[in-house]
Amino acid sequence: MLELSNISKSYQVGPTRLDILKGAHLSVAKGDLLAIMGKSGSGKSTIMNIIGLLDRPDSGSYHLNQRAIEQYQDDELSAARNELIGFVFQSFYLLPRQSALENVMLPLRYRDSPPAESKERAMMMLEKVGMASRAHHRPNELSGGQRQRVAIARALVGNPSLILADEPTGALDPRVGKDIMNLFIDLNEREGMTIVIITHDPSIAERCQRTVIMADGYLEEA
Ligand SMILES: Nc1ncnc2c1ncn2[C@@H]1O[C@H](COP(=O)(O)OP(=O)(O)O)[C@@H](O)[C@H]1O
Ligand SMILES: [Mg+2]
Repeated sequence: MLELSNISKSYQVGPTRLDILKGAHLSVAKGDLLAIMGKSGSGKSTIMNIIGLLDRPDSGSYHLNQRAIEQYQDDELSAARNELIGFVFQSFYLLPRQSALENVMLPLRYRDSPPAESKERAMMMLEKVGMASRAHHRPNELSGGQRQRVAIARALVGNPSLILADEPTGALDPRVGKDIMNLFIDLNEREGMTIVIITHDPSIAERCQRTVIMADGYLEEA
C-alpha cells in the first residue's frame, strides 16, 4: 500500500539545521497493523505527516498505492488526503460546540454526499465504535476515551484505506488506552483496515503485528 525509501527531512531553526530523517525506509502492506516507537523528538510525527501527505520529504521517494507522490498535483494530494487517509491524534481535535454526530459528519461536508446520507453513515460509524448512544453529546460531556472513539469514527467515516494514529492513547489512562487499542485491533482483524500507530507504550506495540523503531533518523524493524 505504501513504500517510503531513503526519506530525508531537515528543519532549519535559526542558524542550526536539524537533520531529523536521514534516509528512512518503510513499507506497509494492505492489512498491516504497524506500531512506530522511538524517543520523543526522534521524528515519528515527522514521518507520519509525510505518510499522511501533510508534509513532503526533502528527498527520497514515496509511493502510495503504487504511485509516486511527486507525480500528484496539489488537488490530487488533497483528494488523496481526504479520501484515502483517516487521521487520529493524541488530543482528539473535536469541535467543542458540535455534537459527536456533527463532528463525525464533518469530513463528508467536503463531498457531494446528501445530508441525510451523511447523517446515516456517521451514525453507523458511531455505532461501530460503541458511541451511538452519545451521538447528541458534545465533547465536554464525554470522557477522554469516549472522545477518542468519536475521533476514530470521524477518521473512518470517509471509508479510508489507511488509518494513521499519532499517539492515540497518549492522553488516556492505561485501561482506557487498552480499550481504544482493542478497537483498532478489531478494525484491523474484522475489516482488514491498514493501521499505523505511533506509541510510547510497549504494551500497545506488543499487540501490533509489526513494530518499527525510529532512531538517529532511521527506521528499524524491531
Ligand atoms: N516545523 C518544525 N520546525 C522545526 N523543527 C521541527 C518542526 N517540526 C518538528 N521539529 C523538530 O523535529 C524533531 C522531531 O519532531 P517530531 O517528529 O515531532 O518528533 P516525535 O513525534 O518523534 O516526538 C524535534 O526535535 C522537533 O523539535
Ligand atoms: Mg510526535
